[in-house]
Amino acid sequence: MRIRHSLKALHRDDGLPGRVDIVEVGPRDGLQNEKTLVSASDKVAFIQALAACGFPDIEVTSFVSPKWVPQLADAAEVLTGLGEPPRGVCYSTLVPNLAGMERAIQSGVRRVAVFTAASETFNQKNINASIAESLERFKPVMEMARSANVSVRGYLSTAFVCPYEGPVNPSAAARVVRQLFELGVDEVSIGDTIGAAVPRQVHGLLDELAEDMSADRLAMHFHDTRGTALTNVMAALERGITIFDASAGGLGGCPFAPGATGNLATEDLVYFLDGMGIETGVDLRKVCAASNALRAAAAVKQPSRVLEAMNATERDG
Ligand code: HMG
Ligand code: MG
Repeated sequence: MRIRHSLKALHRDDGLPGRVDIVEVGPRDGLQNEKTLVSASDKVAFIQALAACGFPDIEVTSFVSPKWVPQLADAAEVLTGLGEPPRGVCYSTLVPNLAGMERAIQSGVRRVAVFTAASETFNQKNINASIAESLERFKPVMEMARSANVSVRGYLSTAFVCPYEGPVNPSAAARVVRQLFELGVDEVSIGDTIGAAVPRQVHGLLDELAEDMSADRLAMHFHDTRGTALTNVMAALERGITIFDASAGGLGGCPFAPGATGNLATEDLVYFLDGMGIETGVDLRKVCAASNALRAAAAVKQPSRVLEAMNATERDG
């Protein structure tokens, strides 16, 4: 179970939250899309370095089909290598179905995430199910989670734009968010899967959700394919959102979303929030060190601009 610092977030005179939680998704969202296979021991070292940075939650891997995502076929080995997380840190994993949930529980996971989408075509390509079928699949997953005392996050992919169907109607996206909450997830992370949204769309969906939902239970998951992620974070902060997903180094993308590149880089997000005086509890230098150590071990792509700038400053003085 993750400790929610954000519940204590104070809103400041400028209306922005005083504190946000960052969910680090690099080891999962990042490494699922890397052409270079990273060894389980390098993943463990990367995650352990991230665990010392101050994140309340690190999404460490996925219990999906190894045929669909061979990059994460070593999920159980990674969890065994990790052992118990340090105090105050939660290691979570993605699960697509009951088979994945069983594997996650066998590995001792205390928090999982189920994932569906706002557009039918993407959902079919990603998990081989319609939106309705995926929600049905999650029912036994939720039941197993309840009896094993495992907490569950929900993801909504293609919340703004689908790579196959184009712009997504905000009311259709909001309907699936409500359905996820009805199933019993404790938070929904809203995904701009292909990094195509701009603040107008973020406001549009949050307008729909504000009718009957508290901002406390929503997270935003922006990919940065077109460089709009930070402006979208700003829009979401203005609407009281206090949970953001990010990926160390800017690793990532979804193998089933053509053209999607990495998540908003954690370094870029922390730099921005530090500068805005919004507390995160995350140590930027330690995140850069974790990213640099991963790159020294494996030839991964790290598009983070802040990481590059910090490395250049370090190198050139
Ligand atoms: P399927 O082929 O329809 O599944 O895949 P199936 O139930 O017919 O099973 C086929 C085979 O897979 C069987 O094995 C099952 O045992 C096995 P076989 O009999 O052929 O040897 N299998 C499994 N093995 C291990 N673990 C499992 C599992 N389930 C079935 N959990 C399935 C359906 C959902 C499994 C597949 O489509 C899948 O794994 N998809 C994964 C997709 C994925 O990981 N996408 C990326 C993550 S989502 C994302 O990145 C977006 C996000 O970041 C938010 C955003 O940015 O928007 C979260
Ligand atoms: Mg993603």
